[in-house]
Amino acid sequence: MLVEKTAVSYKIENRIAWLYFDRPEKRNCMNPTLNREMMEALDELEYSEDVGVVILTGKGTAWSAGMDLKEYFRETEAQGLKGVRKSQRESYGWFRRLRWFNKPTIAMVNGWCFGGGFGPLFACDLAISADEAQYGLSEINWGILPGGGVTKVVADLLSMRDAMWLTLTGELIDGKQASAMRLVNESVPADQLEARTREVAELLLKKNPVALKFAKDAVRRVGLMQYDEAEDYLVRMQEAANFHDKTEGRKEGIRQFIDEKSYKPGLGAYDLQKAAKKG
Ligand code: ACO
Repeated sequence: MLVEKTAVSYKIENRIAWLYFDRPEKRNCMNPTLNREMMEALDELEYSEDVGVVILTGKGTAWSAGMDLKEYFRETEAQGLKGVRKSQRESYGWFRRLRWFNKPTIAMVNGWCFGGGFGPLFACDLAISADEAQYGLSEINWGILPGGGVTKVVADLLSMRDAMWLTLTGELIDGKQASAMRLVNESVPADQLEARTREVAELLLKKNPVALKFAKDAVRRVGLMQYDEAEDYLVRMQEAANFHDKTEGRKEGIRQFIDEKSYKPGLGAYDLQKAAKKG
């Protein structure tokens, strides 16, 4: 299935949604149209039975060249505060939607990734980069600080020295450096990027989807909590997951290991199909 909007497109193949920044002629920089269409696409994909994982990537030579300096900044500023706040709501809105998306998400960074692009990069749960991709906080090069959450992203993900380096120098790093800094999970040569990302997506497709959603939210939430709050939150979240998981997957997972001896949880996931039949 293929859906083409103006600046965004997606295809669904074998329960994987490949979601594209699709303005290659503008290096996939994010204008208000792209931001609105990304929100629409996320709406369409989030609760679709056909989708288990979303991979966010870019058409052409860029992942995303950040915010559109003309349409997102200059033209909205010309409309006054009303225009500026509207465009901020639209971009921050889909970044937030992606951070708390109901399915696991993977950023597949195929090329340029600048400034505002760090927002959706952080919003994805996992990130796989091409060695050849180039990352930069170019804000300083045109005279602003990394806003739209970007400074928070680098302060949370990177060491203070690395965050400060990128922020103050605007210098580029490649995929291997981004991986060494833990901005992404791993980096592979460009010709292996798609295959490796598909492999990771397929790994996620084998897991209990309710457990995945509660687990990913928990990782983002507990960072700001005290130990006791986190402990309590995780108990409540597992109880909420038990309610949502109509297949009673955790019981099935124990049964297949202890009674059936058909798999080992230390080495892979239980068979979801058997659980679905019972659910
Ligand atoms: N905003 C607006 N237009 C852009 C942007 C952008 N962020 N990035 C690329 N474009 C446009 C160019 O103006 C050009 O338009 P044109 O064909 O109408 O002249 C077209 O996309 C192609 O760009 P080129 O610069 O010709 O492409 P090239 O491959 O040589 O360079 C690069 C790619 C390095 C990404 C360059 O376009 C660039 O530096 N872009 C800006 C990156 C940036 O600083 N982004 C803002 C980060 S700060 C923030 O997001 C808050």
